[in-house]
Amino acid sequence: MKYFIVTYGCQMNVHESEKIAGMLVDIGYDAASSYEEADVIVFNTCCIRDTAEKRAYGNIGALKSMKKADPDKTIVVVGCMTQQKGGAEALKKKFPFVDIILGTNSLDKLPVLLQEKRAKSRIAVNEDPTVDLSTELPIYRTSGTNAWINIMYGCNNFCTYCIVPYVRGRERSRAIADVIADVKQVLSEGYKEITLLGQNVDSYGNDLKDGTNFAGLLKEIAALDGKFRLRFMTSHPKDFNKEVVDVIAASSNICHNIHLPIQSGSNEILRRMNRKYTVEQYLEIIDYIKAKMPDVGITSDIMIGFPGETEEDFLLTCDLVKKVRFSNAFTFVYSPRKGTPAATMEQIPADVKKSRITRLVKLQNDITKELSDLYLGNVYEILIEDVNPKYPGTVCGRTDSGRLVTIDGDPSLIGSFVNVKITKSRSASLFGEISQGEKK
Ligand code: SAH
Ligand code: SF4
Ligand code: F3S
Repeated sequence: MKYFIVTYGCQMNVHESEKIAGMLVDIGYDAASSYEEADVIVFNTCCIRDTAEKRAYGNIGALKSMKKADPDKTIVVVGCMTQQKGGAEALKKKFPFVDIILGTNSLDKLPVLLQEKRAKSRIAVNEDPTVDLSTELPIYRTSGTNAWINIMYGCNNFCTYCIVPYVRGRERSRAIADVIADVKQVLSEGYKEITLLGQNVDSYGNDLKDGTNFAGLLKEIAALDGKFRLRFMTSHPKDFNKEVVDVIAASSNICHNIHLPIQSGSNEILRRMNRKYTVEQYLEIIDYIKAKMPDVGITSDIMIGFPGETEEDFLLTCDLVKKVRFSNAFTFVYSPRKGTPAATMEQIPADVKKSRITRLVKLQNDITKELSDLYLGNVYEILIEDVNPKYPGTVCGRTDSGRLVTIDGDPSLIGSFVNVKITKSRSASLFGEISQGEKK
């Protein structure tokens, strides 16, 4: 029996797909390489923006005829779309041929439903977001040299545009001993990079009420034996603090690569987004990071078109982008999410949004390219993570600061640290050759 998993959305979902695969491998399934080959097809969905939902809808809908021709194929839909209010029922109505719908807290039910073969039209969405049945599932890791490790689930922040707190529930931190045990386990398995996952990692431990905090967790992991890279995401500027920066700066294992979503450069928009920080506070922490780690790569999420965003607000966002000079940024057009406060506010016309996103993308691309050029001629340590399928005969990995670097080489290099001299830059990616020279 074979399975095929299609994953949308963030790293949380990527990792949850590894847990789904883990459960399926446990009961004797193998990975398939196409829909056709698979006995079970799982869609792990995302609802952060309308485009994410549309993509999932399109791809699930496209399986209708395949399911008709081969009714024994089991089609499963899981993930954040199923956790929206009425989401599971809406999916069932739109796609009656789907066999199983599971919420993010009910993934553990999948093997039973499959094995009992009473899977027809099952919906098991656990509306109670405080139960983490999925926490201790087997994991079939598919991400090469990197191991994802959840440190917490959910989000308490209720940014007014965001659906995540509604579909993922409140913040729950995993016990520090469990996290450390996972880290030791993956290091003993040979993983060279660990990425700690949470919607807001900086508030890790707040709910444990035992004095545990994110800085303490980082310090404890960084002190473990062996050469490895530690990354984490995502940080929230209201909680990211100097103590965490100091821990990162003092450790050779924690990457100097910080993702700190700003969203907007206008204090008025930030206030209405309920982000709980000002541009000035954001810049203060950025200055501190840069002073402590001049080689840092800072990335961000930036959104345009939030309800009420004026041209002036937008230009303030552009000013901030110029000031910080992000090494790279994810840029988004605001997408109204049903049930969130911002969805009921007066919306910005589509043509205005289009003009703003075009200008923002151009501005950031220019900065990204300028910052890439600064790497030219220097030597950096790269962890080779994979082949680069775009260029046959090459492999790629990242600098400590997060820049993607491609070099000539064969897959035997995957998992090793090599020093690379940068010879060419192209927007956000770099090219180079293995070097014996001193690294920067
Ligand atoms: N917890 C993380 C990531 C949340 S989702 C954080 O707070 O940073 C990732 C990004 O998607 C957000 O940072 C935001 O920029 C974007 N996003 C969230 N909701 C959105 C919406 N309704 N429309 C457009 N972009 C959105
Ligand atoms: Fe969404 Fe805000 Fe929570 Fe991030 S911090 S997941 S943007 S509500
Ligand atoms: Fe999407 Fe859910 Fe992640 S909505 S961004 S998959 S937490």
